Amino acid sequence: MKFFIDTANLAQIAEAQELGCLDGVTTNPSLMAKEGIKGHDNVMQHYQDICTIVSGDVSAEVISVDFDGMVKEGKELASINPQIVVKVPMIEQGVRALRYFTDNGIRTNCTLVFSVGQALLAAKAGASYVSPFIGRIDDISSDGLALIEEIRLVYDNYGFETEILAASIRHTMHIVHCAKIGADVITSPLSAIKGLLKHPLTDIGLEKFLSDYRESQ
Ligand code: G3P
Repeated sequence: MKFFIDTANLAQIAEAQELGCLDGVTTNPSLMAKEGIKGHDNVMQHYQDICTIVSGDVSAEVISVDFDGMVKEGKELASINPQIVVKVPMIEQGVRALRYFTDNGIRTNCTLVFSVGQALLAAKAGASYVSPFIGRIDDISSDGLALIEEIRLVYDNYGFETEILAASIRHTMHIVHCAKIGADVITSPLSAIKGLLKHPLTDIGLEKFLSDYRESQ
């Protein structure tokens, strides 16, 4: 299972990298805006900076919603660094763009996926990753994890190689559940990844080990 961090914040990406468990980064236009990254050159430089910090895949999203625009943007993004994976929205023109990128050796992440049917189309178009947004599904009183299970079943039925990238992770147990049901990748805020560290018995046990050691000296 791969761990990606879902942010454009360089400090958090560096902290996750230092933890030693990071396999990549996902960004989106909202996350870039949150970091105040504006203008074409600054955006391109920021993606390059992220690629310098991590050694794995870095998803960079197109802004265009037409085929020609997505292809032009995607080629430019892919030229920044071999680590770049072009993130394409699940719309009709996006499916066409996924097929174009697949046929031209550019890796892709199909984003804004909320149904099994959309995930099936993304796989048919050869997407490297598909990103179901589980937190946003939970937000509307539906079941994001059930969608991951259903996509897993369909992909396994036919041997699709598209990796299921569980996105819109909101908390640590999302990560644990995704691991149990076979998501290939999670992309998560750093806080949810660090939540995996926590158990009160670890803290109590460590304190006892250290106090016994101190008393023995
Ligand atoms: O990067 C896509 C996805 O992870 C967005 O998450 O929290 O905005 O629903 P969120």
